Amino acid sequence: MTKRDPIDYRQRAYSAEGHAFLARPPRLFIGGEWVMPSDEATIAVEDPSSGETIAQIADAGDGDVDRAVAAARAAFDQQRWHGLAPMEREAVMHRLADLIEADAELLAELEAIDNGKPRTIAAEIDIPRAVSHLRFMAGWASKSGGRTTAPYTMPAGTMFGYTVKEPVGVAAQIVPWNYPLLMACLKIAPALAAGCTVVLKPAEQTSLTTLRLGDHLAEAGFPAGVVNIVTGRGETVGERLVRHEDVDKVAFTGSTEIGKRINRAATDTLKRVTLELGGKGPVIVLPDVDPADIAPSLAKASFFNSGQVCVAGSRLFAHRSVFDRVLEGIAETAGDWAPRPSLDPEAQMGPLVSGEQLERVMGYVAAGRCDGASVVMGGDAPGSGGGGHYFSPTLLAEVSPQMSVVREEIFGPVVVAQRFDELDEVARMANDTHYGLSAGIWTHDLSAMHGLAARLKAGIVWGNCHGAIDSALPFGGFKQSGLGREGGLEGVQIYQETKTVMIKL
Ligand code: NAI
Ligand code: MG
Repeated sequence: MTKRDPIDYRQRAYSAEGHAFLARPPRLFIGGEWVMPSDEATIAVEDPSSGETIAQIADAGDGDVDRAVAAARAAFDQQRWHGLAPMEREAVMHRLADLIEADAELLAELEAIDNGKPRTIAAEIDIPRAVSHLRFMAGWASKSGGRTTAPYTMPAGTMFGYTVKEPVGVAAQIVPWNYPLLMACLKIAPALAAGCTVVLKPAEQTSLTTLRLGDHLAEAGFPAGVVNIVTGRGETVGERLVRHEDVDKVAFTGSTEIGKRINRAATDTLKRVTLELGGKGPVIVLPDVDPADIAPSLAKASFFNSGQVCVAGSRLFAHRSVFDRVLEGIAETAGDWAPRPSLDPEAQMGPLVSGEQLERVMGYVAAGRCDGASVVMGGDAPGSGGGGHYFSPTLLAEVSPQMSVVREEIFGPVVVAQRFDELDEVARMANDTHYGLSAGIWTHDLSAMHGLAARLKAGIVWGNCHGAIDSALPFGGFKQSGLGREGGLEGVQIYQETKTVMIKL
């Protein structure tokens, strides 16, 4: 560990552009314009690096949700979006990507002061990925049609059968706070490519960049009502969207608990539902790898974005022969991951998103200690006197499979380490969870790699890397980690209905 100066936990100054954005009055983006919410209820926006209230957003009511859904419904039913030439839709989506790219500096700053993630990381990852995803998905507007098929039971030339891909309709999209702008773009891009119209609800903790996105939606040239943004709480705005008669499809990313609730609520109207939920990703280290080589990657797998990642490598399984050295290697990275204010240029990890999240994470670590886990590194909340929600990167060992720190998604920079001897054993341990989102395997032994990849129940398996996610490839969970796949063509198809047409010749 290199010696560093003590950390200054005070947040750094915002830019003039940042201040100006924060001073804007609470508004909703409905029907292509900024509108006043129906009443004056607001939600305070907090900078998690300082704990200070920095702005207010609208806490939308039922009437606002209904207005937004009506705008999306009208835009869909009048074919304002789907009725355009695919080439035009594609061009508008590319324009949106260009506008976001040109605004990257302000967006990265807003993301950092709203979510707590380092501005440098937002600028390097969140904003460019939002842009590239829009660009990737834009192309599907013209490339995800149906097919013609000769009927199986009918003589050739007697029946013409073909399929058409139609947009499912109005999509309600509910996103969480860990990747605010990126998630918003991951959601709207495939829906727009498919021809749907959208009501987007950002998380109440982190709505700023989605509101900034509204400016760009207005300028990019989307017809009125194609994308609407309603800020507010899950139990009010979210619930109403999910139960709304005029919403055809719900796409949600967030906790498994709320995902189940949404799935149940959407059943009444049989809405199409896709869910990206929690995870408790296993990371498996086989005996042939050099622990020192991979320790920085293992630390990143667990601590990136303060561990507030559904694919975080939060359960580490290291072969008995390398276990101690793997833990030592991770412990050596503690200084790199020490939390810092999000606008500190040296920050690699910021605070957690909220005091509530910090409480939750501290509660898990306390429960782990109480259950007999040993704290190899971290476990503390530094700089807490200053109001920020900082938590140190934390490694727990001597854990057993029933402990809550092993079973439940913590969503903080906390990883639990366990030993194994045999591949069969580690496959069983890794699969011993209700979750099934991601898994990582570190080895140069090809047959062990493929053998484990086949046995792990996870929607995405990484070999000798972690967290690689690409717009062209599907992403989603097995078991209670989700329903459906986003990304790639599969990600567009979740916004489409297939119509079969048969014409007698
Ligand atoms: P959450 O699942 O309650 O919130 C996510 C989104 O759903 C937010 O926009 C929220 O407003 C909305 N929502 C909440 N209740 C709703 C309802 N009844 N109907 C419709 N929408 C609703 O997540 P929360 O409470 O912020 O975090 C709790 C835990 O969830 C975290 O500690 C973490 O374990 C997990 N989580 C997982 C995420 C993931 O990417 N898989 C993202 C965020 C949280
Ligand atoms: Mg919640």
